[in-house]
Amino acid sequence: MGKYIIAGNWKMNKLPSETYDYIKEVEKATMGAECEVVCCTPYVCLSEAVRAAKGTHIKIGAENLHFKDSGAYTGEVSADMLCDLGVDYVIIGHSERREYFAETDETVNAKTIKALEKGLIPIVCVGESLEQRQAGITMDFIAIQIKKAFAGISAEDAKKVVIAYEPIWAIGTGKTATADQAEEVCKGIREILAGLYCEKCAKEFTIQYGGSMNDQNAAELLAKPNIDGGLIGGASLVAAKFAPIVAAAK
Ligand code: PGA
Repeated sequence: MGKYIIAGNWKMNKLPSETYDYIKEVEKATMGAECEVVCCTPYVCLSEAVRAAKGTHIKIGAENLHFKDSGAYTGEVSADMLCDLGVDYVIIGHSERREYFAETDETVNAKTIKALEKGLIPIVCVGESLEQRQAGITMDFIAIQIKKAFAGISAEDAKKVVIAYEPIWAIGTGKTATADQAEEVCKGIREILAGLYCEKCAKEFTIQYGGSMNDQNAAELLAKPNIDGGLIGGASLVAAKFAPIVAAAK
């Protein structure tokens, strides 16, 4: 429905000195891609990543940003800083940031608004825990995350946001959601968006699946009507594993 986007999330992996060559490797391995290819890298790798991606089909993203423009926020990085480097995308509200770094639905909302204001494309992550899935409250929980993330955002702006559905129990565990489970939630997310905005707008959103997506399961997941791409952790760190996922997105 939305534009197909495969984004790598390097997390806290790879060194600045490895970045240029690795992006070039990804470029070669994904030549002829029929989807948007994004590599989200640690802050310190971004300038090398942007340098390597210049003039290629690869887009570069950050893994976080701060919601203020500037000021006394030691250790933080602003949207303007990312834009100045030539970054196009930014991951917001990854479950690891929610769990380990006190990210809340409110900070996710503030960061999404700031990213949109500055012209960065936010990849907003949502997803339930294993306990929530077992309690049968997956969609209720995700509806709250989505509503809060999009509070105060117009339909025109909202459509620029990429949503990544990442069940927490599937991240880095090797336990992928089945294609049917992932489709069910992505479809549910589109219905929530239709309610918040309109049916037609909801169809324009890119909704990714993330959580142990790999070269073996990508084609089946991406064949589902409501899954428009993937946010890839582990498999994005090896070009030969990332490329088949990109090739499956068409
Ligand atoms: P994974 O991570 O592919 O290693 O499960 C996905 C993510 O957390 O974005």
